[in-house]
Amino acid sequence: MRYKLQKRRFPAHVVISVTNRCNLSCPYCFSRYAVNKEDRLNTERMISLIDELQKKGTGYINLTGGEPLTRRDIKDIIHYITRKKGIKCSLSTNGTLLDEKIEVLRGIDSINVSLDGNEEQHNRNRQSQQYGKIIKGIEAALANNIPVTTCTVLTKSNMDCVDDIAELSKKKGFLAVFHLLRVGLKPNEDLLRQQMSRREIRDVVQRIIDYKKARYPIYYSNKTHAYIRDWPYEHPSCMLRKDDGQAEKNFKIIPCVCGDLSCFIDGEGSVYPCVILSGQVKVLNFLEAGFENAWNFLPHVRCRACSFFFQTELNLLLSLSPAAWKNFITNSDRF
Ligand SMILES: C[S@@+](CC[C@H](N)C(=O)[O-])C[C@H]1O[C@@H](n2cnc3c(N)ncnc32)[C@H](O)[C@@H]1O
Ligand code: SF4
Ligand code: SF4
Repeated sequence: MRYKLQKRRFPAHVVISVTNRCNLSCPYCFSRYAVNKEDRLNTERMISLIDELQKKGTGYINLTGGEPLTRRDIKDIIHYITRKKGIKCSLSTNGTLLDEKIEVLRGIDSINVSLDGNEEQHNRNRQSQQYGKIIKGIEAALANNIPVTTCTVLTKSNMDCVDDIAELSKKKGFLAVFHLLRVGLKPNEDLLRQQMSRREIRDVVQRIIDYKKARYPIYYSNKTHAYIRDWPYEHPSCMLRKDDGQAEKNFKIIPCVCGDLSCFIDGEGSVYPCVILSGQVKVLNFLEAGFENAWNFLPHVRCRACSFFFQTELNLLLSLSPAAWKNFITNSDRF
């Protein structure tokens, strides 16, 4: 908001990968799991990072990974962010440890739980047999009044999962969001095979729009859904750089605020504009260069727009789109 009014850059929304460790190994994961035994961002470094972010005006922190619930100090980190610093906090989890660790989440504003469809679709997409445990975890969170948003990665293997997720969200009382499979700048063959075609994306996003119209608890605004549905550029080269020349005539680009109002900090301390670019572009590490320098380096990463659901919604919110704010306010009791 301040950026819009004063044209000032500050990290309003920050995603931190608090660990590279994970108890699963989903085939499409862009995160570097199971790399180190110890987390480079240890408790002390996390605390000083949070202090620095607060000084810079950060209002929202999302904790992700790897699997953040594998960290022994996650309860203290959440407590420090929410109670000590008064910053809004969410945590993204694969849900497998939720039920047994529900206590550590006290005070969190909301959680995002990965759920890729019904039992068969989920277990196939993530190549693990954890569906039952995850549903138990979601139920435990809701029973403890922790708002839940499920995150579904759409691939060729599970693109028919929208109906099941929509029905379940209504039945259980969680919000649902859908994401497209990201293949990175140098994709491997397996990932490319899992990527939906433009036509398939259009159809599946239209289905999501129809459910939202029918008042199913699906988050992201109509504007974001329509933007992704109508995205005219080919995948996987869907990311437009600032020097990519003319955009399509009839398509209005939503400019990306990454690096101006939001950033992603990986498990090693490198500060990226967003998670998609993690490991793909040259950036600075805040443990070596200091957060201020790492943050100030980001405008050198030349990126303009892409068809990333989460980021499109965030871009709209942080540039004060009335459609996105109306959608946010309508759902605000859920996170
Ligand atoms: C990297 S995970 C970390 C948190 C936690 N381990 C989990 O799985 O929810 C965060 C989110 O990124 C999603 N994700 C991982 N790889 C992806 C990819 N290639 N494309 C789109 N989403 C992906 C996961 O499904 C999950 O919802
Ligand atoms: S659970 Fe999350 S971090 Fe772990 S492999 Fe799957 S997507 Fe990646
Ligand atoms: S346009 Fe924004 S969200 Fe997309 S890859 Fe570039 S920096 Fe990341």
